[in-house]
Amino acid sequence: MIPFPKNGLALAPMRALTQPPFWRILNRYGTPDAYFSEFIRVHENFRVDPKMIDTALESAGNCPLWIQLMGNDPKALEQNVRILETYPIAGIDFNVGCPVPKIFKKQAGGGLLRDLPLLRDLLLHLRSVCTKPLSVKFRIGFNSAEHFDEILAILNEVQPALVTLHARTVTDLYRGKPRYEYIKIACRQLSFPLLANGNIETVQDIQSILKNTGCYGAMLGRAAVRNPWIFQQWNEYKNHQPATYPTFADVYYYLQDLFLEFGWAGKDELSALGCLKRFTNYIGPAIDENGAFLHQIRTANSLKTFWSICATFLQNNPLPYYGQPFANLHAQPNKEGVFRN
Ligand SMILES: Cc1cc2nc3c(=O)[nH]c(=O)nc-3n(C[C@H](O)[C@H](O)[C@H](O)COP(=O)(O)O)c2cc1C
Repeated sequence: MIPFPKNGLALAPMRALTQPPFWRILNRYGTPDAYFSEFIRVHENFRVDPKMIDTALESAGNCPLWIQLMGNDPKALEQNVRILETYPIAGIDFNVGCPVPKIFKKQAGGGLLRDLPLLRDLLLHLRSVCTKPLSVKFRIGFNSAEHFDEILAILNEVQPALVTLHARTVTDLYRGKPRYEYIKIACRQLSFPLLANGNIETVQDIQSILKNTGCYGAMLGRAAVRNPWIFQQWNEYKNHQPATYPTFADVYYYLQDLFLEFGWAGKDELSALGCLKRFTNYIGPAIDENGAFLHQIRTANSLKTFWSICATFLQNNPLPYYGQPFANLHAQPNKEGVFRN
């Protein structure tokens, strides 16, 4: 049985963003068809923390949860798979895309796309030891798509239950236009379902990627942080119901929900502010065309100023919020994926 619904949507793993408190919020705003945990870096003596998995499962609620592992030590990966398999998770996802230099230089994450024999060995090993469904999240190549066909051949040999293709190279990081043509090629060549990923922002984008590439479903990251109502909007579209849009005031209460769910009130002020800004980095480009919200938020140096800017731009604003970024505004690149481990 395919462990994912056709035309379904998954929430992307995003380190320090799409964590369990964020899932609890989505469970109220509109749940996706699967959650994928941010990567767990597996080293030689690392063992996954059972408390962390308990919290993750509790927060995921009824939504299937995939736990993502990253590493290149087959024994250590196997030992952690054995622990994880004792939990009612949907499956294990393997990270073959992380572009952080500290990681890819050690032949882990996206670095595995530079060493295809190692990637093949690891995937075959994982496939043979995993009794739960295995999924693989990968990119079109390391610094070009030159070896794309070889990557697909490896995946066809391994036969995971599911794959997600972020349609960029590792060195593209998160910028530039995703190369959706590779999603189409992969869908034609792979004999199992593929989730498309990369800059899928709106219900129209989801419709178009499904129609134009033949993908089985899609995975959304930054769009879900910017517009956590997108999963509900997709369900409305599928059920032929009129679309409901939140207002800018709802965005204000979403930020408050983040503050409460993540428990940032218990942190020192500057850390709490930093955590909030991690989210407004993605939400800000969809607020006003001139970028005034984004600019003011970036320079806010106290929680009082932060909330007063939010009150001015959002709190009493009854206009619909579409969550689409203005073309001239961007999240700060240094907050995109260059995270500490
Ligand atoms: C801040 C940040 C953290 C991320 N963390 C992870 C991660 O832990 N595991 C992973 O496979 N991908 C990670 N990604 C990549 C996303 O899952 C996704 O592939 C990428 O953002 C493109 O999709 P999007 O355009 O829908 O955001 C991260 C991306 C960002 C920007």
